[in-house]
Amino acid sequence: VGVAAVVTAAGSGSRLGLAVPKALARVGDAPLVVHAVRAVQASGAVDHVVVTVPVQHRDAFAEVLAPLDVVCVVGGPTRQASVAAGLAAVPADARVVLVHDAARALTPPEVVARVVGAVLDGHPAVVPVVPVTDSVVSVVGEVRPVDRTTLRVSQTPQGFDRDALARAHRAAAARAATEGEAATDDVSLCAAIGIPVSVVDGHLDALKITLPVDLVVAESLLAARATVPSEAPGGRA
Ligand code: CTP
Ligand code: MG
Repeated sequence: VGVAAVVTAAGSGSRLGLAVPKALARVGDAPLVVHAVRAVQASGAVDHVVVTVPVQHRDAFAEVLAPLDVVCVVGGPTRQASVAAGLAAVPADARVVLVHDAARALTPPEVVARVVGAVLDGHPAVVPVVPVTDSVVSVVGEVRPVDRTTLRVSQTPQGFDRDALARAHRAAAARAATEGEAATDDVSLCAAIGIPVSVVDGHLDALKITLPVDLVVAESLLAARATVPSEAPGGRA
């Protein structure tokens, strides 16, 4: 069975506020999009990678991605539109498709493999999740606490039976053009047409780099990973 991943990297990163698109922001030795693609490929579970890139920066993305055996496609005005464009470029033999945010650059490869495994086990739409650690209130109308034990935070990569994902995107295509109407992830589009959604364990390292503070966290996580080998006997330079 062919497995493909669409890595979404076509956003601008307005909340991060850098001069470059977010996916080109560097942590450690490489831009976020390179870390994300490396993790997908390191899982050993994915055969093809398609990356959605912003049209004005397509050359810069092609350059940083050149060593990585990926196909670049120009994204759309929203994440949902970009995923639809990426999905259209997935090879016909791929029956399983992952959708992964370049912004979740430090996702461990084991999470990627877990999601693929769940789809291959017959789950048509799979989302990796982590617990909610904050208390949560609903603020529409009367302010009311929400029971966080019933909630999870959704991450990516989300994994799909290819035909299920394609149907979900076709059904929602009319809302893809506008940020206020488009979906922020893909299991929500599946749920909207009645496709059952399953969860697997995500990982805290798969945080979505969104705000400047997240880049500080990501830099620290990478630095901590880099020091692990030096603590093994003989590993110190
Ligand atoms: N994305 C995309 N195409 C878009 C918008 C977003 O491919 N038109 C991608 C982003 O590059 C990112 C992922 O979707 O990897 C999640 O989106 P988000 O974190 O919102 O990134 P941005 O839209 O770039 O950031 P912001 O909303 O702060 O502008
Ligand atoms: Mg966005």
